[in-house]
Amino acid sequence: MTYQVTIQPSGHTYSCEDDESILNAALREGFNLPYGCRNGACGSCKGKLLSGDVEHRGSATALSDTDKSAGKILFCVAHPLGDVSIECREIGAARDIQIRTMPCRVQRLEKLAGDVMLVQLRLPASERLQFLPGQYIDILLRDGQRRSFSIANPPHDDGLTQLHIRHVPGGLFTDQVFSSLKEKDILRIEGPHGNFFLREDSSKPVLFIAGGTGFAPVQSMLAHAIQHHHDRQFTLYWGARNRAGLYLDQTARRWADEQPNITYVPVLSEASPDDAWQGRTGLATEALAADLTDLSSYQVYACGAPAMVEAARTLCLSRGLPEDEFFSDAFSFQSGG
Ligand SMILES: Cc1cc2nc3c(=O)[nH]c(=O)nc-3n(C[C@H](O)[C@H](O)[C@H](O)COP(=O)(O)OP(=O)(O)OC[C@H]3O[C@@H](n4cnc5c(N)ncnc54)[C@H](O)[C@@H]3O)c2cc1C
Ligand code: FES
Repeated sequence: MTYQVTIQPSGHTYSCEDDESILNAALREGFNLPYGCRNGACGSCKGKLLSGDVEHRGSATALSDTDKSAGKILFCVAHPLGDVSIECREIGAARDIQIRTMPCRVQRLEKLAGDVMLVQLRLPASERLQFLPGQYIDILLRDGQRRSFSIANPPHDDGLTQLHIRHVPGGLFTDQVFSSLKEKDILRIEGPHGNFFLREDSSKPVLFIAGGTGFAPVQSMLAHAIQHHHDRQFTLYWGARNRAGLYLDQTARRWADEQPNITYVPVLSEASPDDAWQGRTGLATEALAADLTDLSSYQVYACGAPAMVEAARTLCLSRGLPEDEFFSDAFSFQSGG
C-alpha cells in the first residue's frame, strides 16, 4: 500500500510505501527531515503526528511517555497506517544540521588512481551522518590537528561515508593514507561542515568546475540530483593533468549518456602520448571560457585547488554571473591548524 504524508507547516507532500519509515520515504523523495541514528535511539527525528495513525516498527527508545502523550513519534521507525500529516522542521540550510564528532572504522581502501584513494568509512551501528550534498568532514588527528575532506556519496546513500583522498607527498595525514592506514583502523571525524552544497530552491542551470579530487563533492551533488529527478541542466567541467587524474571518468560519462540534462566536459592540461587523448585540452576554466560568454542566468559550483577556484570565480564574475550564484570549496591546507 502507498500512503500520502503531508509535512506541516511547509505543506509538502510525498508518498510512503507501508514497508518504509516516514523518514526514509522523505529522504528518498528529497525532503530533508532531521535525523541522527535512524534506529529509534537518538530522538533527532522526533516530531508530532497531526493526523492519521502510525506504527513504530523496531525500538523507539528515544520516545518518553511524555512524548507519547504529546502525540510525538519517531519518523525513522514510524510507518504510516493510512494517510498522515506530521509537524516537522525541514532542513534547508547547513546551520540546521547538528555538527557531530564520532569514531568510524575504515571499511575499505581502494586506489582510484596512483595518487587518489577511495576511503570508505563505517560509522558506529547506532549512528548516521546527516549532511547536504557537497559538504565535508574533518578528520581529527591525534595531536589536535584536523584535515578536511569532501563527502563523495550522496545523502540517500549514507551506509558508508566515502572520501576521495589525494596524496600530498610529505603530508602528515595523506602520507599515512597511502602507506600505513588499513581496513578496520579507527578514525575520528567531525561534521558535516561547509556551505558548499547544492541549492535546491533554484531552477537555474548549474555549472560545476572541478579540479582533481574536487570531483568528490560534485559526485555527491550530481548523484543526489539524479536520485531526486531534478530536471535542471547540469554541466560538469572536470579538469585533471592526465587521463588517470579523471579517476571516475566512466561514472561521469555514464551519467551524461543516461541523463539528458547532464553534460560532461573532461579537460586535460598535461595529457601524455600514452593517454591518446582526443578530448579538450588546457585548463577546465579555459574550456568553460571558450564555451560560454554569458553566465548571467547560471549558478556555479567550483571546487579544487585554491588557484583554480580563484580563476573560476574571476572568470565567472567577468562573464556576468551574479556574485551570490558562485559557490566554492577551495582545497586549502590545514597544516598547523
Ligand atoms: C573544505 C575542504 C575540503 C577538502 N576536500 C578534499 C577532498 O575531498 N579530497 C582531497 O584530496 N583533498 C581535499 N581537501 C584538501 C585536503 O584537506 C588536504 O590536501 C589535506 O589536508 C592534506 O593533508 P596532509 O596532512 O597530508 O598534508 P599537510 O601535512 O597538511 O601538508 C604538507 C605540505 O603539503 C602541502 N599541501 C598540503 N595540502 C595540499 C594540497 N591540497 N595541495 C597541494 N599541496 C598541499 C603544504 O605545503 C604543506 O606544507 C579539502 C580541503 C578543504 C579545506
Ligand atoms: S534518527 Fe535517531 S531516533 Fe530517529
